[in-house]
Amino acid sequence: MTDRDADASRLAADAMDQRDPTGWFERLYREAAEGNAVVPWDRDEPNPLIVERLAKSGRPGLRALVVGCGYGTDAEYVASLGYDTTAFDISSTAVEAARTRFPDSLVSYEVADMLDMPTAWASAFDLVVESITVQSMPVWVRVDAISAIASTVAPAGTLCVVSGIRADGAEVDGPPWPLTRDEILSFGDNGLSAMTVERVPSEGRWWAQFIRMAAGEWSSPLLRTPLAEPGSAHLFETRDTERDLIAGRHACPGSSSAKSNEHPSRSAASTPPASRTQATHAPAARARSRLNR
Ligand SMILES: C[S@@+](CC[C@H](N)C(=O)[O-])C[C@H]1O[C@@H](n2cnc3c(N)ncnc32)[C@H](O)[C@@H]1O
Repeated sequence: MTDRDADASRLAADAMDQRDPTGWFERLYREAAEGNAVVPWDRDEPNPLIVERLAKSGRPGLRALVVGCGYGTDAEYVASLGYDTTAFDISSTAVEAARTRFPDSLVSYEVADMLDMPTAWASAFDLVVESITVQSMPVWVRVDAISAIASTVAPAGTLCVVSGIRADGAEVDGPPWPLTRDEILSFGDNGLSAMTVERVPSEGRWWAQFIRMAAGEWSSPLLRTPLAEPGSAHLFETRDTERDLIAGRHACPGSSSAKSNEHPSRSAASTPPASRTQATHAPAARARSRLNR
Protein backbone atom coordinates (compact mmCIF):
# COMPACT_ATOMS: atom_id res chain seq x y z
CA MET A 1 0.00 0.00 0.00
CA THR A 2 1.26 3.49 -0.79
CA ASP A 3 0.49 6.69 1.12
CA ARG A 4 -1.94 7.63 -1.64
CA ASP A 5 -3.99 4.54 -0.85
CA ALA A 6 -4.24 5.04 2.90
CA ASP A 7 -7.56 6.92 3.06
CA ALA A 8 -9.28 4.68 0.52
CA SER A 9 -8.08 1.56 2.29
CA ARG A 10 -9.25 2.80 5.68
CA LEU A 11 -12.74 3.68 4.41
CA ALA A 12 -13.03 0.52 2.32
CA ALA A 13 -12.11 -1.67 5.28
CA ASP A 14 -14.94 -0.15 7.34
CA ALA A 15 -17.40 -0.65 4.48
CA MET A 16 -16.36 -4.27 3.94
CA ASP A 17 -16.88 -4.98 7.64
CA GLN A 18 -20.48 -3.88 7.08
CA ARG A 19 -20.81 -5.86 3.82
CA ASP A 20 -21.37 -2.57 2.02
CA PRO A 21 -19.64 -2.89 -1.38
CA THR A 22 -19.85 0.76 -2.47
CA GLY A 23 -20.55 3.02 0.52
CA TRP A 24 -16.94 4.07 0.92
CA PHE A 25 -16.65 5.86 -2.42
CA GLU A 26 -18.89 8.80 -1.48
CA ARG A 27 -17.20 9.00 1.93
CA LEU A 28 -13.77 9.14 0.27
CA TYR A 29 -14.76 11.80 -2.27
CA ARG A 30 -16.44 13.85 0.45
CA GLU A 31 -13.38 13.71 2.70
CA ALA A 32 -11.23 14.64 -0.30
CA ALA A 33 -13.49 17.62 -1.07
CA GLU A 34 -12.91 18.77 2.51
CA GLY A 35 -9.15 18.40 2.03
CA ASN A 36 -8.92 15.45 4.43
CA ALA A 37 -8.27 12.55 2.06
CA VAL A 38 -6.58 11.59 -1.21
CA VAL A 39 -8.42 9.91 -4.08
CA PRO A 40 -5.66 7.58 -5.29
CA TRP A 41 -6.92 7.13 -8.86
CA ASP A 42 -7.23 10.86 -9.54
CA ARG A 43 -5.27 11.79 -12.66
CA ASP A 44 -4.85 14.96 -14.70
CA GLU A 45 -4.50 12.97 -17.92
CA PRO A 46 -6.81 10.34 -19.41
CA ASN A 47 -5.83 6.71 -19.08
CA PRO A 48 -3.03 6.12 -21.64
CA LEU A 49 -4.52 2.79 -22.73
CA ILE A 50 -7.83 4.46 -23.52
CA VAL A 51 -6.06 7.21 -25.41
CA GLU A 52 -3.93 4.77 -27.36
CA ARG A 53 -6.73 2.38 -28.27
CA LEU A 54 -9.66 4.71 -28.90
CA ALA A 55 -7.92 7.69 -30.50
CA LYS A 56 -9.30 7.07 -33.97
CA SER A 57 -12.65 5.58 -33.05
CA GLY A 58 -14.94 8.57 -32.49
CA ARG A 59 -17.76 9.50 -34.78
CA PRO A 60 -20.40 12.18 -34.25
CA GLY A 61 -23.79 10.66 -33.55
CA LEU A 62 -22.45 7.68 -31.63
CA ARG A 63 -23.33 7.47 -27.94
CA ALA A 64 -20.73 6.60 -25.31
CA LEU A 65 -21.07 5.66 -21.64
CA VAL A 66 -18.17 6.00 -19.21
CA VAL A 67 -18.62 3.80 -16.14
CA GLY A 68 -17.46 4.92 -12.67
CA CYS A 69 -16.15 8.19 -14.14
CA GLY A 70 -14.83 9.74 -10.92
CA TYR A 71 -13.61 13.26 -11.67
CA GLY A 72 -14.27 12.82 -15.39
CA THR A 73 -10.84 12.82 -17.03
CA ASP A 74 -11.52 9.78 -19.23
CA ALA A 75 -15.06 10.93 -20.01
CA GLU A 76 -13.76 14.25 -21.27
CA TYR A 77 -11.33 12.42 -23.53
CA VAL A 78 -14.07 10.18 -24.92
CA ALA A 79 -16.26 13.23 -25.56
CA SER A 80 -13.35 14.95 -27.32
CA LEU A 81 -13.39 12.10 -29.86
CA GLY A 82 -16.86 13.15 -30.96
CA TYR A 83 -19.03 10.76 -28.97
CA ASP A 84 -22.23 11.99 -27.39
CA THR A 85 -20.99 11.05 -23.92
CA THR A 86 -22.75 10.15 -20.69
CA ALA A 87 -20.60 9.43 -17.64
CA PHE A 88 -21.75 8.24 -14.27
CA ASP A 89 -20.51 7.58 -10.80
CA ILE A 90 -22.10 6.38 -7.60
CA SER A 91 -20.59 9.32 -5.76
CA SER A 92 -22.56 12.56 -6.06
CA THR A 93 -19.54 14.45 -4.74
CA ALA A 94 -17.36 13.05 -7.55
CA VAL A 95 -19.98 13.93 -10.16
CA GLU A 96 -20.30 17.46 -8.81
CA ALA A 97 -16.51 17.80 -8.81
CA ALA A 98 -16.35 16.62 -12.45
CA ARG A 99 -18.92 19.23 -13.47
CA THR A 100 -16.92 21.88 -11.63
CA ARG A 101 -13.59 20.73 -13.03
CA PHE A 102 -14.91 20.82 -16.61
CA PRO A 103 -17.41 23.71 -16.67
CA ASP A 104 -17.64 23.75 -20.48
CA SER A 105 -17.99 20.00 -20.74
CA LEU A 106 -20.14 18.33 -23.36
CA VAL A 107 -20.38 15.26 -21.11
CA SER A 108 -23.64 14.50 -19.36
CA TYR A 109 -22.50 13.61 -15.84
CA GLU A 110 -24.97 11.52 -13.85
CA VAL A 111 -25.14 9.99 -10.39
CA ALA A 112 -26.02 6.31 -10.78
CA ASP A 113 -25.21 2.94 -9.29
CA MET A 114 -24.20 0.29 -11.81
CA LEU A 115 -25.81 -2.30 -9.53
CA ASP A 116 -29.12 -0.48 -10.10
CA MET A 117 -28.60 0.84 -13.60
CA PRO A 118 -31.18 3.27 -15.10
CA THR A 119 -33.49 1.30 -17.39
CA ALA A 120 -33.13 3.95 -20.11
CA TRP A 121 -29.49 2.89 -20.52
CA ALA A 122 -30.30 -0.68 -21.52
CA SER A 123 -28.78 -1.42 -24.95
CA ALA A 124 -28.31 2.33 -25.45
CA PHE A 125 -24.61 2.95 -26.07
CA ASP A 126 -22.38 2.42 -29.10
CA LEU A 127 -19.28 2.58 -26.91
CA VAL A 128 -19.07 1.66 -23.24
CA VAL A 129 -15.81 2.29 -21.37
CA GLU A 130 -15.21 0.47 -18.10
CA SER A 131 -11.90 1.32 -16.43
CA ILE A 132 -11.04 -0.29 -13.07
CA THR A 133 -14.52 0.15 -11.59
CA VAL A 134 -15.54 -3.51 -11.41
CA GLN A 135 -12.27 -4.31 -9.66
CA SER A 136 -12.94 -1.60 -7.10
CA MET A 137 -15.94 -3.57 -5.82
CA PRO A 138 -15.68 -6.85 -3.89
CA VAL A 139 -15.95 -10.15 -5.73
CA TRP A 140 -19.36 -10.95 -4.32
CA VAL A 141 -20.97 -8.32 -6.61
CA ARG A 142 -18.79 -9.12 -9.61
CA VAL A 143 -21.25 -11.13 -11.67
CA ASP A 144 -23.97 -8.50 -11.22
CA ALA A 145 -21.59 -5.64 -12.01
CA ILE A 146 -20.30 -7.27 -15.18
CA SER A 147 -23.79 -8.14 -16.35
CA ALA A 148 -25.05 -4.58 -15.67
CA ILE A 149 -22.24 -3.00 -17.66
CA ALA A 150 -22.72 -5.39 -20.56
CA SER A 151 -26.46 -4.62 -20.62
CA THR A 152 -25.79 -1.03 -21.70
CA VAL A 153 -24.09 -1.99 -24.98
CA ALA A 154 -26.27 -1.31 -28.03
CA PRO A 155 -26.61 -3.79 -30.88
CA ALA A 156 -23.35 -3.57 -32.86
CA GLY A 157 -21.88 -1.55 -29.98
CA THR A 158 -18.46 -2.00 -28.38
CA LEU A 159 -17.46 -2.44 -24.74
CA CYS A 160 -13.86 -1.65 -23.76
CA VAL A 161 -12.60 -2.91 -20.40
CA VAL A 162 -9.46 -1.87 -18.55
CA SER A 163 -8.61 -3.81 -15.42
CA GLY A 164 -5.82 -4.93 -13.19
CA ILE A 165 -4.67 -8.52 -13.67
CA ARG A 166 -5.20 -11.29 -11.12
CA ALA A 167 -3.71 -14.72 -11.64
CA ASP A 168 -6.14 -17.63 -11.68
CA GLY A 169 -6.74 -18.88 -8.15
CA ALA A 170 -4.83 -16.02 -6.51
CA GLU A 171 -6.32 -14.72 -3.27
CA VAL A 172 -6.63 -10.97 -3.08
CA ASP A 173 -7.29 -8.69 -0.14
CA GLY A 174 -8.84 -5.69 -1.87
CA PRO A 175 -9.48 -3.11 -2.76
CA PRO A 176 -8.69 -3.48 -5.53
CA TRP A 177 -9.87 -6.95 -6.50
CA PRO A 178 -8.30 -7.27 -9.98
CA LEU A 179 -9.93 -9.55 -12.54
CA THR A 180 -8.79 -12.98 -13.62
CA ARG A 181 -8.75 -13.93 -17.28
CA ASP A 182 -12.00 -15.86 -16.82
CA GLU A 183 -13.66 -12.89 -15.17
CA ILE A 184 -12.62 -10.67 -18.07
CA LEU A 185 -13.98 -13.21 -20.52
CA SER A 186 -17.25 -13.38 -18.55
CA PHE A 187 -18.24 -9.99 -19.99
CA GLY A 188 -18.92 -12.17 -23.01
CA ASP A 189 -21.52 -14.22 -21.08
CA ASN A 190 -23.94 -11.39 -21.60
CA GLY A 191 -24.59 -11.51 -25.31
CA LEU A 192 -21.26 -9.92 -26.19
CA SER A 193 -18.46 -11.43 -28.28
CA ALA A 194 -14.82 -11.07 -27.26
CA MET A 195 -12.75 -9.35 -29.93
CA THR A 196 -9.58 -8.72 -27.95
CA VAL A 197 -8.41 -9.77 -24.51
CA GLU A 198 -4.91 -8.50 -24.14
CA ARG A 199 -2.46 -8.46 -21.30
CA VAL A 200 -0.51 -5.19 -21.26
CA PRO A 201 2.39 -5.89 -18.90
CA SER A 202 3.79 -2.37 -19.00
CA GLU A 203 0.53 -1.10 -17.53
CA GLY A 204 -0.20 -4.16 -15.42
CA ARG A 205 -3.60 -4.18 -17.07
CA TRP A 206 -6.01 -6.21 -19.12
CA TRP A 207 -7.31 -4.42 -22.20
CA ALA A 208 -10.40 -6.15 -23.55
CA GLN A 209 -12.88 -5.33 -26.24
CA PHE A 210 -16.29 -6.92 -26.77
CA ILE A 211 -18.94 -6.39 -29.41
CA ARG A 212 -22.65 -7.02 -29.34
CA MET A 213 -23.33 -8.65 -32.65
CA ALA A 214 -26.46 -7.12 -34.16
CA ALA A 215 -28.84 -9.64 -35.69
CA GLY A 216 -28.34 -9.68 -39.42
CA GLU A 217 -25.60 -7.08 -39.26
CA TRP A 218 -22.05 -8.29 -38.85
CA SER A 219 -20.30 -4.99 -38.55
CA SER A 220 -19.84 -2.53 -35.72
CA PRO A 221 -20.02 1.23 -36.24
CA LEU A 222 -16.71 1.43 -34.41
CA LEU A 223 -14.91 -0.93 -36.73
CA ARG A 224 -13.91 0.04 -40.20
CA THR A 225 -14.45 -3.24 -41.94
CA PRO A 226 -16.87 -6.17 -41.60
CA LEU A 227 -16.38 -8.65 -38.82
CA ALA A 228 -15.75 -12.33 -39.24
CA GLU A 229 -18.59 -14.44 -40.54
CA PRO A 230 -21.11 -15.68 -37.94
CA GLY A 231 -19.75 -18.61 -36.03
CA SER A 232 -16.18 -18.13 -37.16
CA ALA A 233 -14.98 -16.21 -34.09
CA HIS A 234 -12.37 -18.15 -32.20
CA LEU A 235 -9.70 -17.60 -29.60
CA PHE A 236 -5.98 -17.54 -30.21
CA GLU A 237 -3.21 -17.91 -27.68
CA THR A 238 -0.13 -15.92 -28.63
CA ARG A 239 1.76 -15.67 -25.39
CA ASP A 240 5.01 -14.78 -27.08
CA THR A 241 3.58 -11.40 -28.02
CA GLU A 242 1.78 -10.95 -24.68
CA ARG A 243 -1.47 -10.75 -26.60
CA ASP A 244 -3.23 -13.51 -24.75
CA LEU A 245 -6.49 -14.04 -26.52
CA ILE A 246 -7.83 -12.64 -29.69
CA ALA A 247 -11.22 -13.47 -31.10
CA GLY A 248 -12.48 -12.48 -34.51
CA ARG A 249 -10.60 -10.52 -37.14
CA HIS A 250 -9.87 -7.24 -35.43
CA ALA A 251 -8.12 -5.73 -32.50
CA CYS A 252 -9.51 -2.55 -31.07
CA PRO A 253 -10.77 0.46 -32.99
CA GLY A 254 -8.02 2.95 -33.62
CA SER A 255 -5.17 0.51 -33.15
CA SER A 256 -2.81 -0.33 -35.96
CA SER A 257 -4.01 -3.93 -36.10
CA ALA A 258 -7.66 -2.81 -36.19
CA LYS A 259 -6.95 -0.92 -39.38
CA SER A 260 -5.11 -3.72 -41.10
CA ASN A 261 -7.99 -6.21 -41.53
CA GLU A 262 -5.48 -8.99 -40.95
CA HIS A 263 -6.26 -12.46 -39.78
CA PRO A 264 -5.78 -12.40 -35.98
CA SER A 265 -2.90 -14.81 -35.95
CA ARG A 266 -1.00 -12.58 -38.37
CA SER A 267 -2.00 -9.36 -36.66
CA ALA A 268 -0.93 -10.72 -33.26
CA ALA A 269 2.40 -11.75 -34.70
CA SER A 270 2.94 -8.28 -36.13
CA THR A 271 1.94 -6.55 -32.89
CA PRO A 272 5.04 -5.24 -31.15
CA PRO A 273 5.53 -6.88 -27.79
CA ALA A 274 5.09 -5.06 -24.53
CA SER A 275 8.25 -3.04 -24.99
CA ARG A 276 6.53 -0.38 -27.09
CA THR A 277 3.92 0.54 -24.47
CA GLN A 278 6.49 0.00 -21.76
CA ALA A 279 8.74 2.65 -23.25
CA THR A 280 5.86 5.08 -23.64
CA HIS A 281 4.13 4.69 -20.30
CA ALA A 282 6.69 3.38 -17.85
CA PRO A 283 6.85 6.59 -15.72
CA ALA A 284 3.08 6.67 -15.33
CA ALA A 285 3.05 3.00 -14.42
CA ARG A 286 5.71 3.52 -11.78
CA ALA A 287 3.77 6.36 -10.17
CA ARG A 288 0.58 4.34 -9.88
CA SER A 289 -0.78 3.54 -6.44
CA ARG A 290 -2.06 0.09 -5.50
CA LEU A 291 -5.68 1.24 -5.87
CA ASN A 292 -5.01 2.55 -9.34
CA ARG A 293 -3.75 -0.87 -10.38
C1 LIG B 1 -11.12 2.86 -8.86
S1 LIG B 1 -12.15 4.19 -9.30
C2 LIG B 1 -11.86 4.32 -11.05
C3 LIG B 1 -12.20 5.66 -11.60
C4 LIG B 1 -11.99 5.77 -13.12
N1 LIG B 1 -12.90 4.91 -13.83
C5 LIG B 1 -10.56 5.48 -13.49
O1 LIG B 1 -10.31 4.62 -14.33
O2 LIG B 1 -9.68 6.16 -12.95
C6 LIG B 1 -13.76 3.49 -9.24
C7 LIG B 1 -14.85 4.54 -9.49
O3 LIG B 1 -16.08 3.87 -9.66
C8 LIG B 1 -17.06 4.45 -8.84
N2 LIG B 1 -17.97 3.35 -8.49
C9 LIG B 1 -17.73 2.32 -7.66
N3 LIG B 1 -18.78 1.52 -7.59
C10 LIG B 1 -19.71 2.04 -8.41
C11 LIG B 1 -21.03 1.67 -8.75
N4 LIG B 1 -21.62 0.60 -8.22
N5 LIG B 1 -21.71 2.43 -9.62
C12 LIG B 1 -21.13 3.54 -10.15
N6 LIG B 1 -19.90 3.96 -9.85
C13 LIG B 1 -19.19 3.22 -8.98
C14 LIG B 1 -16.31 5.03 -7.66
O4 LIG B 1 -17.00 6.06 -7.01
C15 LIG B 1 -15.02 5.50 -8.33
O5 LIG B 1 -15.15 6.80 -8.83
